[in-house]
Amino acid sequence: MNRASLGDGSTCGTVREALGTATTHLAAAGITDASVDARYLVAHALGIERAALLRAPERALDSDERHRLADLLARRVAREPISRIVGERAFHGLTLALNAETLDPRPDTETVVNLALALAALVDAHDGPLKILDLGTGTGAIALALLAALPDAEATATDISPLALEIARRNAERHGLANRIRFFRSHWLEDVRDRYHMVISNPPYIPSGEIATLAPEVARWDPRAALDGGPDGLEAYRTILADASRVLEVSGFVVFEVGHDQAAAVSAIALDHGLAPAPLNWPLLRDLGGNTRCVAVATSGRNWKINLGIVDQGG
Ligand SMILES: C[S@@+](CC[C@H](N)C(=O)[O-])C[C@H]1O[C@@H](n2cnc3c(N)ncnc32)[C@H](O)[C@@H]1O
Repeated sequence: MNRASLGDGSTCGTVREALGTATTHLAAAGITDASVDARYLVAHALGIERAALLRAPERALDSDERHRLADLLARRVAREPISRIVGERAFHGLTLALNAETLDPRPDTETVVNLALALAALVDAHDGPLKILDLGTGTGAIALALLAALPDAEATATDISPLALEIARRNAERHGLANRIRFFRSHWLEDVRDRYHMVISNPPYIPSGEIATLAPEVARWDPRAALDGGPDGLEAYRTILADASRVLEVSGFVVFEVGHDQAAAVSAIALDHGLAPAPLNWPLLRDLGGNTRCVAVATSGRNWKINLGIVDQGG
């Protein structure tokens, strides 16, 4: 669909027509879920909620709105994800703004948040707030979701990207969480001085050579620094785990999101550094599809089966 075909009003005169035309156009470009995306884009072009489209199928689009819709459709055909086009993404009950230097937060990462919430209840008694460190925070997704669910917790969030930290700060303000989180730039743990009960990270874990094979929405639009985990995808885990004991409280946990086939390798790295990984068959490590997408690591001395009493299968 070019700007002129939309601009003449013949196929996009009303909301109903715009939805039909946009769906056809996106489907022809090979976009799956074309009708879902069409609803997002028509609503965004009109500056209204998606639900409002249903209530006003005969509402007329003016020429500015048709031009805006044409631009939005061209971006989606270039495989820009809907979340980047509309500038925000829903994550664990929060709406998060994103920018070119942040990963588009994924539903997979909600598994890490849920695991961290379960582990927060297992941290031994402590004076003062539960202290959380989110390494490579991006939009702030993990740290902010945890703070929203844990009113007595405080968080520190780091990233290598100043622009990511800027948007994460804005997201914290938007959700009234800014007074319980601080942000600073650091290469993983390099500039971290304090100790934490929970160190959490969804680091870049795609092997460098596989990035080009990912869906265009990811390979073209997510920042390279959020994806590239080095030759085998494990570089960030090695760097973080080599130094993790220094920043963990006596009763502490490290929680990672990992690639679908990386859990065993990351657990082995943790063991090499004297830490205690949870058995990989613990159901809380799995996503909704049953894949092990998290690794949980405790400070040495923890025995997951006996001390915590939370895993009854072998592991
Ligand atoms: C996979 S993204 C995760 C973003 C966010 N935590 C989430 O789950 O949506 C990885 C993040 O790590 C950051 N990062 C990459 N290299 C880093 C480094 N050396 N030190 C700190 N952060 C880094 C990236 O900028 C990116 O924000």
